[in-house]
Amino acid sequence: MPDVPSDGYDLVVVANRLPVDVSLDEAGEISWTRSPGGLVTALAPVMAGADGAWVGWGGSPGLDLEPFDVDGTHLVPVTLSADDVERYYEGFANDTLWPLYHDVIAPPAFHRQWWEAYQRVNRRFAEAAAAQAARGGTVWVHDYQLQLVPRLLRELRPDLRIGYFHHIPFPPLEIFAQLPWRTQVVEGLLGADLVGFQRGGDAANFVRVVRRLTDLTTRGQVVTLSTDGKVDRHVRAAAFPISIDSGAFDALARTPQVQARAREIRDELGNPTTLLLGVDRLDYTKGIRHRIKAYGELLEDSRLSASTTTLVQVASPSRENVDAYAQLRDEVELLVGRINGDHGQVGHAPVQYLHQSFPMEEMAALYLAADVMLVTALRDGMNLVAKEYVAARSDERGALVLSEFTGAADELTGAVLVNPHDIEGMKDAITYAVHMDQREARKRMRRLRRRVLGHDVAAWSREFLAVLTAVPTREHHV
Ligand code: G6P
Repeated sequence: MPDVPSDGYDLVVVANRLPVDVSLDEAGEISWTRSPGGLVTALAPVMAGADGAWVGWGGSPGLDLEPFDVDGTHLVPVTLSADDVERYYEGFANDTLWPLYHDVIAPPAFHRQWWEAYQRVNRRFAEAAAAQAARGGTVWVHDYQLQLVPRLLRELRPDLRIGYFHHIPFPPLEIFAQLPWRTQVVEGLLGADLVGFQRGGDAANFVRVVRRLTDLTTRGQVVTLSTDGKVDRHVRAAAFPISIDSGAFDALARTPQVQARAREIRDELGNPTTLLLGVDRLDYTKGIRHRIKAYGELLEDSRLSASTTTLVQVASPSRENVDAYAQLRDEVELLVGRINGDHGQVGHAPVQYLHQSFPMEEMAALYLAADVMLVTALRDGMNLVAKEYVAARSDERGALVLSEFTGAADELTGAVLVNPHDIEGMKDAITYAVHMDQREARKRMRRLRRRVLGHDVAAWSREFLAVLTAVPTREHHV
């Protein structure tokens, strides 16, 4: 066993990204901004309330930094070289695992050199976590970039409780089995005591994969690891649907500044009768093209009026060095240009496309300004944008059109559910949402808000950590 730090942390989070993107300014001082994505959104409030450490990458290649503290959390940067970024992050994580785990919407690429880099970087994260955790402490590993960490960490530190949460979908066996290194990945995950997923279906897919690809016995969602007939330990798989800091988001959207900004946005758009909104990372899993195509056809068929309707599409830049993402950007921009060219007028474009990221305040104002929110992902682990929209609508107005293929659809049954592959069905659903009478909209929004406000991210992490903490560790046996 390596050295157990004498003043280690009881809770260590390990995620590919730190909660901040770090860079060095000209004077060599560290400066940072909040990093993108659902994972950071979810965990930031959890860590704010705990005395913990967070091991992750600062977002720039080659940057080698000492640990530093932000808002009471000890941040431990892991260095990724330019080659690691290319092969581990852009390659294996985002051009192999990401498309494979999202229903092969884009074809996954399998390269042995990327796999080598994935193993090497996962080991680096495991070593960094092993050096931070107190004896008998808890380490919570996050997401598909780090699936080998639970096992590597257990080898280094058998005294720890190890939890893993998978933020994205876990695919059916028939898809997962394409991965040339499928057994190593499953064994990596089985290093954890608890493997959490967004939906029951993801946990069931994982257990089926374990049954088919290993010799281990499973009972319900519990896997038993044993040597010579003697039980070593159990691994539990279960669903813990993630949420947002709903109370804080609700409060933010109620502030006079945000309310005023929402009105200003509608004004600046020329006070459209109907304002539709899409907010996504620019990712091929999000169904942005399908949504814009449906909208364009509604204008074409005059089911929506091009002069009184606006679609605001925020598409925040993401993974721009991965070809599939660069290609998607071209396709989306072509489509937007066509629709605006065909249906625009001087001073009015029916699609307002913003390839930018915005602060929370501006997002809350956009949610408040929008009559209909369009979340049409082809596959999505959860989708926190849907939950943010609901949390922002304390006025109990607005309608949510939500893809069946998001984790959120399991919970947000008050939404208008759509199959984004079915363009005609989506056109009908959008039209229905646009014309929904106020009584129905209010009834649906109340139902949505009960769910989102009643189950926030603090409840999510509490529930996960409670189950994890109930697991006896080696410490308790010796
Ligand atoms: C999703 C993933 C996260 C990831 C985020 C942003 O939410 O589940 O693990 O951090 O996307 O993607 P990026 O590649 O920029 O970290």
